[in-house]
Amino acid sequence: MAADKVFHSRSEGIPSEGVKDQYADGKAARVWKKFIGDSNQRTQNYKNFLIGLLRSHGCQSVLDIACGTGIDSMMLVDEGFKVVSVDASDKMLKHALKARWERRKDPKYDEWIIEEANWETLPTDVAAFLPGKQFDAVICLGNSFAHMLDEDGQQLGQMRCLKNFAQCLKPGGLLFIDHRNYDAMINSGATPGHSIYYNCKYPVDIKTSVLVVRGRPELVTLDYCINASDRGSVNETSEFRLCYFPHTLAKFTSMLDEAFDGAAKHEIYADFKKLSEVPVPGFYIHVMQKGKK
Ligand SMILES: C[S@@+](CC[C@H](N)C(=O)[O-])C[C@H]1O[C@@H](n2cnc3c(N)ncnc32)[C@H](O)[C@@H]1O
Repeated sequence: MAADKVFHSRSEGIPSEGVKDQYADGKAARVWKKFIGDSNQRTQNYKNFLIGLLRSHGCQSVLDIACGTGIDSMMLVDEGFKVVSVDASDKMLKHALKARWERRKDPKYDEWIIEEANWETLPTDVAAFLPGKQFDAVICLGNSFAHMLDEDGQQLGQMRCLKNFAQCLKPGGLLFIDHRNYDAMINSGATPGHSIYYNCKYPVDIKTSVLVVRGRPELVTLDYCINASDRGSVNETSEFRLCYFPHTLAKFTSMLDEAFDGAAKHEIYADFKKLSEVPVPGFYIHVMQKGKK
């Protein structure tokens, strides 16, 4: 039985069947913009890391496959990349669509493509609006991939998606994909409060629960509580729950290698630094370079 059925893993109002859109009640989508903070204030380390690697590999076209409200995509559009952004959640996408509409007079924003797509059918979904297109880079950041739980108990669905991501890349193209340090979370039962991606100006409390089924950690639940009161405004506290599959570094590393048929160059970073520089990172970021043939 999937862990999602044992434990109530969703905020109220999210259906248990159909597409597993954890943002479907709009609650997390609404507050997400507060959680991630001002989009012009992405942490400098993150910006330097992503844009530096994209430029040094000559990447121009980027497919953001978990664009959410569009924050990563907008940073790339602003920097002159040709960005295609997709997400499975229309509640999240509507924020990205609104941002594009508001800046439509800027030609860079006018060219920004935003569509709905699911990782499980990604190459077909993308081919429906850009037939035959492959990208210099694919990004799946902000702990997004861990949203996909392990429905079959053998991570087969996750593996199919990783292969889909590889398929969307040109030969020599780069996949950026990250996950929180679930090894540490499984051991300690806690989540680091600081984010390497976002500059949230409000206090964020994250309650962490780890569900172990038959001795195997299968689900991590994060209950976010954000006190988003500005000075002079009424007290506004927002709460939402998101569930994640706890990818361990060792297993996720071998899954990625397999998804690229063992033919990719695979670099792993800790909080955007060398692994040896950060003893207990909050996030691991994998950069896969697809084989050149
Ligand atoms: C944590 S949000 C991150 C959004 C953005 N990258 C950021 O850093 O703010 C994760 C996103 O992954 C999307 N997602 C989850 N499962 C998906 C799937 N199977 N196919 C496409 N998108 C999915 C969610 O809808 C959500 O918008």
